[in-house]
Amino acid sequence: MAVLVTGGAGYIGSHTVAALLERGEDIVVVDNLQQGHKDAVLGGKMYVGDLRDSDLMDRVFEENSIEAVIHFAANSLVGESMSNPAKYYHNNVYGTLCLLEKMTQYNVGRIVFSSTAATYGEPESVPIHEHDRTMPTNTYGETKLAMERMMHWFDVAHGLKYVSLRYFNAAGAHASGAIGEDHTPETHLLPLILQTALGKRSHISVFGEDYPTEDGTCIRDYIHVSDLADAHVLAVERLRQGGDSAIYNLGIGQGFSVKQMIDIARQVTGREIPAKAEPRRAGDPAVLIASSSRAREELGWNPTRSRLEDIISSAWGWHSANPDGYSTKKQ
Ligand code: UFG
Repeated sequence: MAVLVTGGAGYIGSHTVAALLERGEDIVVVDNLQQGHKDAVLGGKMYVGDLRDSDLMDRVFEENSIEAVIHFAANSLVGESMSNPAKYYHNNVYGTLCLLEKMTQYNVGRIVFSSTAATYGEPESVPIHEHDRTMPTNTYGETKLAMERMMHWFDVAHGLKYVSLRYFNAAGAHASGAIGEDHTPETHLLPLILQTALGKRSHISVFGEDYPTEDGTCIRDYIHVSDLADAHVLAVERLRQGGDSAIYNLGIGQGFSVKQMIDIARQVTGREIPAKAEPRRAGDPAVLIASSSRAREELGWNPTRSRLEDIISSAWGWHSANPDGYSTKKQ
């Protein structure tokens, strides 16, 4: 019996594949390589293609004994989702519909879903709990919420059991150094800070110094990608044991500002990392911090790698060894 990982060549998907392989699981990956990297998939069987390709998905389900799905395949750039919502509805929402229809057709009743804090929008209070208001402020978050709701109604109609994991800010790289974060275009804070440390950028832009926080910059809850990966493994286990559908926040419950991130990155890397104040980026909430007590209590999740210095030094290991991301490896 195998676990199907959609989007398994992406950043969080590839770290989850690594965690599953470490536990001896059989893996099948489907990824269209729009954002993912073939070299990021450390094992298992791989199909290059799209969830919306019905013939491909028939082959995946017919050629393998799939018992559970972990669903990462989606577009995830907030800015792009605001200029091109159709792309997000098509790939994220329609792609998920295609996947759930195939799962129903082939009697696969368990799915772990890659969701996001962007489903909440501007929080009414922090830390954010799973029962808090969901009012996304961008198309990306809206599509992820729609995907969660779709799974809910497939549960009502067909008994599909899902665990939705709402990540806060994923960061860091695998301890082996074999895989890490490589997006094109890169928009995330930590990789951009480390590219600046490597001299690939002249400076890191600090988007807004006038937020109602201690140093005026935005605060986020950074979580090591391998701690996130562990939560997926535990979620599959919960569903195997007959657990009901559920939603969990995944964060550390502690926030760091953009300026703190830059300061700690300077200490970890020993590099100067010039920073420049710039206007706010549209749609950024001032503070996003998770309450993850439900995941700790119900999944037995225990993040162990998410001290900020550890996150940054693992990411620095990857970036300094692979300054051009996965394309470094091909040279
Ligand atoms: N930031 C900068 N300069 C940069 C890049 C980012 O100051 O060059 C700031 C942002 O304004 C924000 C913080 O750093 O305050 C973190 O930004 P990221 O882009 O790294 O992450 P976000 O918090 O915007 O987004 C993350 C995920 C999204 C998800 C969102 C949920 O990447 O997919 O959390 O809120 F939707």
